[in-house]
Amino acid sequence: MPSAMEGPEVGEDADVSRYEETEDNNVSPTDLSELLKEGTKESHDRAENTQFVKDFLKGRIRKELFKLATVALHFTYSALEEEMDRNKDNPVFAPLYFPVELHRREALAKDLKYFYGEDWKEKIQCSEATQQYVDRIHHVGQHEPELLVAHAYTRYMGDLSGGQVLKKVAQRALKLPSTEEGIQFYVFENVSNAQQFKQLYRARMNALDLDKNTKERIVEEANRAFRFNMQVFDELDKIGRSLPEEAQDGGFPVHDGKGDIRKCPYYADKLGAAGPGCPFHAAVGLARQPLVQLVLAACVAVAAGAAAWYIL
Ligand code: HEM
Repeated sequence: MPSAMEGPEVGEDADVSRYEETEDNNVSPTDLSELLKEGTKESHDRAENTQFVKDFLKGRIRKELFKLATVALHFTYSALEEEMDRNKDNPVFAPLYFPVELHRREALAKDLKYFYGEDWKEKIQCSEATQQYVDRIHHVGQHEPELLVAHAYTRYMGDLSGGQVLKKVAQRALKLPSTEEGIQFYVFENVSNAQQFKQLYRARMNALDLDKNTKERIVEEANRAFRFNMQVFDELDKIGRSLPEEAQDGGFPVHDGKGDIRKCPYYADKLGAAGPGCPFHAAVGLARQPLVQLVLAACVAVAAGAAAWYIL
């Protein structure tokens, strides 16, 4: 792996304990790792306190929503890792390129295959909020690569921290198999010690050759990344509200037929395979027609009459 720092090759040997940099705990307030930690504290608090995250932590997560969250992660990490691959030789990012230890694309593909089947790619769609996040990541990777560290930091450092709590919660709440199918995203099998790895990551961030202004822009961009995540959470929370309790195991939601049909997760789900045919929008839409309502009422009356005649 091309690295701007001296040290062992990254990506070939997964044992992070080999990195001597991990022992360096002397940080100064002007180090990027400290600026990021301090500068995103409020954003972190806000993210932890979004309704979606609070519900998730309490184990109030339904399978259909968890699946959609996994879809959002898939599009996000595909963009992030595409841009990190593009910048793997760029000195503003190269020391933070850890494909073997960190990259989540393949883990997410396994999770989506588990949830949606072999043809998962045709069954998923990028949501509005996720698309905005994805667009920003591509912009940064292609036009302001010195800010890419902000996006990598916000996701991977979080995944190696709070993400481990979420893994256990999801496994229990969704009754997922102990073999960790469906939650591969949370399993960093090539990071044997997350705490140590985070220390290494911080040391690598601090060794980047950056001026004060660029460091400030990186912190600003990390806060922006937090905001994108919160927008995705809020969008998921909204979708979650339209899912009834019964939809725990892949059931269909009851929908009132109002609003933008394209925002129905089942509509999105069906787009690839069967075209725009959410059965609930179709049925609810039909049932709202006055003539259909009249015919339905007549059918109910006839059925009730027949039942009464049969019983009596
Ligand atoms: C379920 C809610 C969450 C919990 C319980 C949680 C928990 C934690 C904990 C305990 C740490 C400190 C780890 C350490 O110092 O080694 C941490 C760090 C971090 N978390 Fe979260 N977190 C949550 C949500 C999030 C979200 C939604 C994001 C961003 C999308 C995020 C991003 C981060 C980052 C970037 C760090 C590294 C801070 C640093 O050391 O610079 N977290 N989290």
